[in-house]
Amino acid sequence: MSPPRTVLVTGSNRGIGFAFVKQLAESGATVFACCRSPSQSDPLQQLSTSITNGKTFSSIMRAQAPLDKRFISRKAQVLNVSSLLGSLSWTPEPPFTMCSAYRASKAAMNMITREYANHLKDEGFIFLSVCPGWVQTDMGDLFGRSPNTPEMSVQCVLNIIDTATSEDNGKYKNFRNQIVDF
Ligand SMILES: NC(=O)c1ccc[n+]([C@@H]2O[C@H](COP(=O)([O-])OP(=O)(O)OC[C@H]3O[C@@H](n4cnc5c(N)ncnc54)[C@H](OP(=O)(O)O)[C@@H]3O)[C@@H](O)[C@H]2O)c1
Repeated sequence: MSPPRTVLVTGSNRGIGFAFVKQLAESGATVFACCRSPSQSDPLQQLSTSITNGKTFSSIMRAQAPLDKRFISRKAQVLNVSSLLGSLSWTPEPPFTMCSAYRASKAAMNMITREYANHLKDEGFIFLSVCPGWVQTDMGDLFGRSPNTPEMSVQCVLNIIDTATSEDNGKYKNFRNQIVDF
């Protein structure tokens, strides 16, 4: 049986972030669900009530604090939700073309993953950049209709997190747990 874990999720009020919160909370994790306007997120408020009535306490907060050492455990992992579009090695086909600012932001975030992976490796951190795949969310729907639900995507990504070792620190992966070229 896995030990209980504490997870902080940003962008947790909708889309992939909300699916993370739901699956983690239902698995018994203590979840700090961060977003810009917690009081305006009906799904989060409802989930918090239903989970609190069950066995787990879930907390909703406004994201504002920098990384706090009190949250650091012996097996701390940081998952940066990236995208294949952040890969300099990949030439996308329509409809995923001409997303220059988005691509640059994900490439920059991948660099941050590498920097922190190197900087904190001796403290036992595992940093990962993972593409969740093309997913049915407000953002994913901008490109058409994906066959993948947020629940399916998050299940795959949680599996990557659960099986990650120090060998994976600083890696860039797709939701199938395959290495992606930076
Ligand atoms: N969906 C896909 O197909 C897909 C594919 C590859 C990667 N991704 C990545 O997956 C992650 C989640 O995307 P999603 O598909 O779940 O998108 P989404 O449904 O559109 O949700 C976006 C989330 O990000 C928050 N957010 C947006 N801008 C923000 C800002 N400036 N500051 C703080 N929070 C902000 C939103 O909060 P508000 O509600 O307050 O706006 C919302 O919680 C993103 O990093 C995205 O790049 C998604």
